[in-house]
This record gives sequence, structure tokens and C-alpha cells, in this order.
Amino acid sequence: MRTVDLIRRKRDGEELSAEEISSLIEQYTQGGIPDYQMSAFLMAVYFSDMTDQEVTATTKAMVASGSTIDLSGIAGVKVDKHSTGGVGDKTSLIAAPLAAAAGVMVPMMSGRALGHTGGTLDKLESIPGFRTSLSVDEFREQLRMYNLAFMGQTPEVAPADGKLYALRDVTATVESIPLIASSIMSKKISEGMDALVLDVKVGSGAFIKKQVDARKLAQLMVAIGRRHDKRVQALITDMNQPLGYAVGNALEIMEVSQTLQNAGPTDLTRLSLELAARMIFLGRVTMTLDDARELAQRKLLDGSGYRKFKEVIKAQGGDANVLDRFDLLPNATGVREILSPRNGFVTAIDAEYIGMASAMIGAGRETKEDAVDPAVGMILEVKIGQKVDAGAVLCRLYYTKDEKLEEAAELVEDAFRVSGTPGDERELILEVVG
Ligand code: URA
Repeated sequence: MRTVDLIRRKRDGEELSAEEISSLIEQYTQGGIPDYQMSAFLMAVYFSDMTDQEVTATTKAMVASGSTIDLSGIAGVKVDKHSTGGVGDKTSLIAAPLAAAAGVMVPMMSGRALGHTGGTLDKLESIPGFRTSLSVDEFREQLRMYNLAFMGQTPEVAPADGKLYALRDVTATVESIPLIASSIMSKKISEGMDALVLDVKVGSGAFIKKQVDARKLAQLMVAIGRRHDKRVQALITDMNQPLGYAVGNALEIMEVSQTLQNAGPTDLTRLSLELAARMIFLGRVTMTLDDARELAQRKLLDGSGYRKFKEVIKAQGGDANVLDRFDLLPNATGVREILSPRNGFVTAIDAEYIGMASAMIGAGRETKEDAVDPAVGMILEVKIGQKVDAGAVLCRLYYTKDEKLEEAAELVEDAFRVSGTPGDERELILEVVG
């Protein structure tokens, strides 16, 4: 079958066979199909969608393009957690230590910040000395010893996804639900997990803006997992305002520390506990989800999640004292306050604007090659629903260079809506799938 015929059939809404998809992906990865044809195919998928069989075949082909990390020699159910990306989303750094302290094996393969969303690896690397570039053997050994290890994706994991993602990025085809589902799941399956808790973000600060699309993505990823004998559950959660108060790498580590000591923001604590509970339940540590919730709560209250995080920071070469002494973390040199223009209630804090402003002053990156400044970011002083007086501080920007500071400050001003009447209460956890 010629590639042009596969593109035409997909363009016309036909279903391709597993063999056709597998051959397309294999040939593309090996350089046998040019980018212009693959771009046309991706755009055809964007408009014509894929059947569940096609998504499963795409995922399988991407897994087969690389090697799978073998964690079978480690006893216990290996449970990973993945977020589709948000602003101020540091739940992995809270849920993973809580679940590990409860006895779950947590192999955490995380990503970096891109665009307006943050990344777990960048947050961890703001801790002086912390090493995320573990070899697979080191990763396994650490998992065996501490129940928890953090590392980045290795080049051997689903290389087809790496190549396809780069092409999607420049052909306006990232926002295709079957392509996002197969991209995420191929990496997770290659990483050797048995079970996975997904946090599918929806709202202004997320990839997915509509709940109906988030539901479709969640259902698709749960179904792909099931077809690969993996237990997968997905929470669909609100990302219309940043999670917690801190946005930016070292600032988020401080908030993680406070939250693991049960002194964190309510929304962040609540979501992290629910994610940890689902990890504990899927890890078969408890028989029921309610028992798992109780256990997660206990691990928070007795400080064992906090101690676990310290242990893992130390094991990966980091200075665990940063969790008690924030002055040991990289610190910004300047502070710019954003004030409320009037008396009223905060009715919106556009998470995308906050994420973009944060990236602009150096907390994130526009291209994969950019470096992040670990010290910078912002701390919100208010959340949606709060009453404020004119002139009250809504947010503080922490910066080290002032090149783009004013532009970022304008975006942050635009992100806040202060109105005369309070808006509707917002649900944080919108749905559960799986
Ligand atoms: N994250 C991924 O890993 N892949 C996508 O396609 C989108 C988000």
C-alpha cells in the first residue's frame, strides 16, 4: 500500500488496519516516509479522528519503536501517575511520596516544562544537587530501596512518539485527542508500569479546553490501558485557575514541602490526597478506595510522606534540607506586586495567562532547548471566590531579570477578574473515568 493511499483513505474517514498503521509508523521512524507525507497523515487524523482500534494500533506501534523498561524483577504493583499538564500543578511531588510511604512502588517518569505548563523534572532540579538523569539500573535499584524514584524519559522509550510529537508541534496537530492518547500511553506502557493514575486537566491553563474533550481523552487512555492489561483510572480536574498558590520551580518545591507537612493550600492538598489514594488502591495496598483515602490521609498527617520525599531527594543527590530551609533553594532578586484595581470578589484567574507570564520571566521554556531559571515565578495571594479591597496584593512576581517583566506583569493583571458579585463555586475534581 502506497503512503499516499493511506493518507487519502484516512482523509476520507476510512478505518485503517492495524498492519497499515504499524507499517506507517515503523517506516516513518526509520526515515522511509518523508515529513510532508506524515504531516498530511496527521492532519487527516486531526480532521477524521481514529477508531479505538486505530488508536490501539498506533499506541502499539509506538511502543514497538523502542524498548520497554523491565520492572518485573521488583516485587509489588508498579503505579505511575501522569498529568496532561497544568499551571502550578505539583501534585506528583506530593502524591508520589504519600503513595510510596503507604507501600506502593512508584516509578515516576516525568517531563519538563513546555509552553505555559510546568514540568516535574524542572521542579526537582531546582533542588541543589538533585539528579534526574538516572540510568535504568539506578532507577530500578532506587525503586527497590525506597519505593520511589524520579527520572526523565530515556531516548529508548517510544522514539516514534518523540519524532511524531516534534512534527505535530510544527503542523498544528498536537490538539488531536487520538494522537494525544497514543502519545501519552505509548510512553507510559514502555516505562514498565502496571497501573496508572491520570490527571486529565481541563480549562484555560490546560491543553484541553472543553470537558467533553477531556472525557473523550480520559476514556480513550483508560481503554488503551485495559487493552494492554494495565489498570488505569483518570480524574478530570479543573485547570481554570492555577493549582495552589505557587507557580515556578523552586517556589513550587516550597509549596510541596508545606503541603507534605499538612500546611498547604486546600485545593492542592485535596487533589494530591485523591491522586495518592487512587495510586494506593490501584497498587492493591488496600481493598477499597475508602481505605486508600484513609491511608493517604494518615501518611500526610503522620509526616511519613514528607519524610519519604526527603529520603528520595537525598538518594538522588539533592540537598533535603531545602524542605526546612527555603533559603537554600535558588532565590529571586526582585519582587513586583500586582494590585487589585477595585473592591470586589476574584471571579477568574486565567491559568494560561499566569503560565505564560511565568514562562516569560524564565520559569518555563518556549522550545525544548531553552533553559529555565529555577528561582523565578509567582505567588498568588488570592484564589477565585475571595473578597479583595482596592490596592490589595493579588499576586507577587519573583524575578531575576527585568527584560520581560512589564510584559509579564500586564498579562498577570489581565489574568485576574475582580467583580462586584462573587462568581459560581468551582468543582476541582469534575469526573472520574475508569
Ligand atoms: N503530552 C504528551 O506526552 N503527548 C501529547 O501528545 C500531549 C501531551
